[in-house]
Amino acid sequence: MKISAKLGLLEKEKADLLVVNLFEGVKKPPRLRSGQAAEATGSVDRALGGLISKLILSENFQGEEGETLIFHTHGQIPAQKVLIVGLGKEKDFNLDSVRQAAGISLQKAAEFSAQKVVSILHGAGVGGLNPQESAQALCEGALLASYRFLKYKNQKERKEAFKKQLKEFLILQKDKADLAKVKKGILQGQIFAKATLLVRDLVNEPSSHYTPVHLKKEAQTLSKKNHQISVKVFDQRKLKSMGAGGLLGVAKGSEEPAYLIHLHYKPQGAKTKIALVGKGITFDTGGISLKPSEKMEQMKIDMAGAGTILGVFSALPKLRPKVEVHGVIATCENMPSGRALKPGDIVHSLSGKTIEIFNTDAEGRVILADALTYAQKQNPNFILDLATLTGACLVALGEQIAGAMGNNPEFMKKLQVASKEVGEKIWELPLPKEYQEGVKSDIADLKNIPPTRFAGAIMGGLFLQEFVGKTPWIHLDIAGPVFAEKPFSTYIPQGGTGFGVRTILRFLEKF
Ligand code: BES
Ligand code: ZN
Ligand code: ZN
Repeated sequence: MKISAKLGLLEKEKADLLVVNLFEGVKKPPRLRSGQAAEATGSVDRALGGLISKLILSENFQGEEGETLIFHTHGQIPAQKVLIVGLGKEKDFNLDSVRQAAGISLQKAAEFSAQKVVSILHGAGVGGLNPQESAQALCEGALLASYRFLKYKNQKERKEAFKKQLKEFLILQKDKADLAKVKKGILQGQIFAKATLLVRDLVNEPSSHYTPVHLKKEAQTLSKKNHQISVKVFDQRKLKSMGAGGLLGVAKGSEEPAYLIHLHYKPQGAKTKIALVGKGITFDTGGISLKPSEKMEQMKIDMAGAGTILGVFSALPKLRPKVEVHGVIATCENMPSGRALKPGDIVHSLSGKTIEIFNTDAEGRVILADALTYAQKQNPNFILDLATLTGACLVALGEQIAGAMGNNPEFMKKLQVASKEVGEKIWELPLPKEYQEGVKSDIADLKNIPPTRFAGAIMGGLFLQEFVGKTPWIHLDIAGPVFAEKPFSTYIPQGGTGFGVRTILRFLEKF
């Protein structure tokens, strides 16, 4: 899909679908109020002889968020159909309302296989949003909403889907002064969305087609394509000589070899060094502490943390934030077999600390122990780890919210702001020192789970904290939001969501 912006009037532009908007409670599209979005709906209304105003009354259109009204213009203006999108209450309006509105436009366009959509820039006028940010959000919403994972469908179905797909999304801009900003926003939106879609693809891949070696190759490809990114790969032999017994221990039950992958991006003049650490279990059966079979197929998503890091790195050469970024991925499969780790076993982690394995299904924290130790050795100013770590986090926060735990309020605040701006939800959970005892073992330094089922997400965080020393650190438990069993919203369809990529990119941009 081509997304672009140009100067022009909505009522003069040819389109299969023309998208305008209304805030909740507006009975007549404004004429005189300042603000170009409102004016734009008003001028389409006037070009249609007041049809929109009439429809608002006759169809009882309230303008609630997500409400839509679509009608044929029968040649009164060049656009074939007009879609009015409700933006909800003006006071609640934000960048995510723009993404949602873009998502709705794409959904409606798909219903009649529209090829060209022309859209108003939601919120840049009355909504009070900055035109660049609004354009970025519109672009993100449109690209993210149009995603489908069709790789394993037959060719006929894929061809059909392609034919029906929207080809052009054009943002019309009346104001010459803002056009450059809108174009910049579109470029940024494309970078953010493309990186997110890459992660969706990786998460949607089944484990039969996506094993640790594929994550390794993806990282190497990124480095080959971009001279700004370097990559180092530690294979099983090297991991053994390093003493990465956590990762090697979990990998023992699988036929597939484990890897520790180290990506590095270092722009000139960077003052801050950030390490991103990702869990890359390409399939989690639970190991000898085998999971029940119901929904086990979803455990192909257990590499989403690693995928998110690859997504972020794919965007860095284009985004060019002024911050040095290290990406550390620990990847293997968690399988039961004659060679697998057994409950009661002890592994020697890279940090030197020994870990007693009480449950082989709590494998994420064991491989991350080594990845965090490795990341810490790069002397970063901040470590952010991403992991589909616990089902307990889903119980606590539901499927759309990630749990955030850490040791540094300043970075936590920064991350929360970034996540809010991109419309991804995170919620802080505490790491109380009173619970720390739960991860101490009688016969080793640590055990991977406490004797209680309570505070499962927090216990995961407390275990990881043992491997970051005093480095400012945040652990994001993304078990819920990286996969949507049913669509989360108009621009987050079923399947892998790519959650986290846009938050991190936004976060990195702030340095
Ligand atoms: N990969 C799972 C966590 C998970 C659950 C991710 C649901 C995505 C959706 C993790 O390795 C795991 O199995 N955790 C256990 C920990 C328990 C044994 C303490 C869990 O959550 O049950
Ligand atoms: Zn597990
Ligand atoms: Zn897991």
